[in-house]
Amino acid sequence: MAAFDTIIKGGTVVTARDTKRADVAIRDGKIAALGIDLGEAREVIDASGLLVMPGGIDSHVHLSQPSGPDIVMADDFESGTRAAAFGGNTMVLPFAMQQRGQSLREVVKAYHAAANGKCHVDVSFHLIIADATDAVLGQELPALVHDGYTSFKVFMTYEGLALSDMEMLKVMEVAREAGALVMVHAENYDAIRFLTDRLERAGQTAPKYHATSRPIPVEREATHRAISLAELIDVPVMIVHVSNREARDEIARAQKRGLKVYGETCPQYLVLTEKDLDGLNMEGAKYVCSPPPRDKDSQIACWEGLQDKTFSLFSSDHCPFRYNDPKGKLVPKGRTSFRWVPNGIPGVETRLPILFSEGVGKKRITLNEFVALTSTNHAKTYGLYPKKGDIAEGSDADIVMWDPQRQVRISQALMHGGTDYTPYEGIEVTGWPVSTIVRGKFVVRDGKLSGQPGDGQYVAREKSKLAEATR
Ligand code: URP
Ligand code: ZN
Ligand code: ZN
Repeated sequence: MAAFDTIIKGGTVVTARDTKRADVAIRDGKIAALGIDLGEAREVIDASGLLVMPGGIDSHVHLSQPSGPDIVMADDFESGTRAAAFGGNTMVLPFAMQQRGQSLREVVKAYHAAANGKCHVDVSFHLIIADATDAVLGQELPALVHDGYTSFKVFMTYEGLALSDMEMLKVMEVAREAGALVMVHAENYDAIRFLTDRLERAGQTAPKYHATSRPIPVEREATHRAISLAELIDVPVMIVHVSNREARDEIARAQKRGLKVYGETCPQYLVLTEKDLDGLNMEGAKYVCSPPPRDKDSQIACWEGLQDKTFSLFSSDHCPFRYNDPKGKLVPKGRTSFRWVPNGIPGVETRLPILFSEGVGKKRITLNEFVALTSTNHAKTYGLYPKKGDIAEGSDADIVMWDPQRQVRISQALMHGGTDYTPYEGIEVTGWPVSTIVRGKFVVRDGKLSGQPGDGQYVAREKSKLAEATR
C-alpha cells in the first residue's frame, strides 16, 4: 500500500520562512512529509515550474451579510468561497454580524446555517458587535470566545453599527478579559454625517462624492482614537483596511511606543484611486467602499506599510454587490445620493494575483513576504497557526499551486463569484493560481472546479497569540 495519498512533486515550496525545491506528501488531509524522494503515493501530481505555497487565508470577507433594506449581497457562502478557491485561497474568515436587538448566539447560529454544506474552502467567523448590551458583554461574548469565536470587529461609523467611545471601551475590556482580538473600522461617524449633509445640500450627490465625504482626516482621527482607547484598556487591536499615509503613521507610531497595535491593508488601496469613483453616470458606484481608495501617495504609503511590516495583513475586504442590479450598486435611492450606494467591492479572487504581480513581480516584496501577508500572518493573528498558514509536517494540507509566469488580464469573464463586475478589470498581472487544495483535496484543479459545496469546513479558532501576549 502506498505510504501517502498524494505527493506534489517537482515544485518549489515557498513558505513565510524559506523557499526550497521539495516534494510535499499528504496523508489524511495533512502534510505528512517534505523532501525529495518521498516514496510512493496513490497519486503523484506534477508541479514542475510551479510554486507550492500555503493556500491564501483571507481574513476579511463579507458573505451573506444583511446590507440594508432592498439590498442583497452578491455572494453567499457557496459563490463567495468558490471565488475564493479560484483565487488560490483555502480559507476565508467572514463576519457574523449582529444587528441591534439580536443576541449574538442567534447571529452565530444563523451564519452557521447559511454556511453549512455550502463552502468550497474552510471558514471561521469573526463577530461584529453592533449592540453592546450588558448580556452581550457579560455573558455572550466571553462564552463565544471560549467556543472559538476569538476575534470581533467594532465599527466607528455606519448607521446602526457605529459604537460610541464608551461602548468601544466596554467591548475592549471584555476582549482583554477573554483574550480576544478586537478589529476596528476606524472612520469618524459624526464627521462623515456632517460632510455628507453638506455635500447633499450643495447637490453633490454623485458616487465620486462618497470619497469627498470620507477624507483622510476622518480616518486618521478615528485611528488615533481607537489606538488611544485600546491603550487605556491595554488590549491589542487590529486596525483594518487602512487606506493612507496618515492612518498608517498613527499605527506605526503606536507600534514604536510598544503598543499592541496591528494593521491591515487591501488591494483597493494599492491599485485604485479616488479617480476611479469618477465614472460616467453611476459607474463610480463600482468603487464605493469605505475607507475609499485615495491617491498615488496613499498607494505608496500602503506599500511602505507592507514593506516595513506596519501592516501584517493583506486582506481583500471582499464585500460584493452586483453593479447592474436594483438590489445592488444601482439601488434606486443610490441615484439620489452616494449616501445610499451599498459600501463594498468584490476582491477575494483577485487579492493574491494583484499582490503577487505588483508586489513580488515588481520587487516590492519577497516571495516569503507574499506568503506571510496572504496566509501565514492571518493564521498567526487569528488563532489558526500552525494548523493553517504553513507547509510543514502536521499542518493541514491547504495548498495553492501557482504559476509565477502566467500572464492574465483581469476581467469579469474570468471571475467565479456572484458579482457582475470586478473593480480590477483590465489590470495585467503575472502570476496566477493553477490549483487549490483544501485539506488534501483538490477544490480547483488546473483552473477548473473539481470539488463541491461542503468540501470546506467550519474551523473553531484558538485565541490569537497577539491577544494572549498581553495577558
Ligand atoms: O466598504 C466596505 N469596506 N464595506 C465592507 C464593510 C466594512 O466596513 O468592512
Ligand atoms: Zn470595515
Ligand atoms: Zn469589511
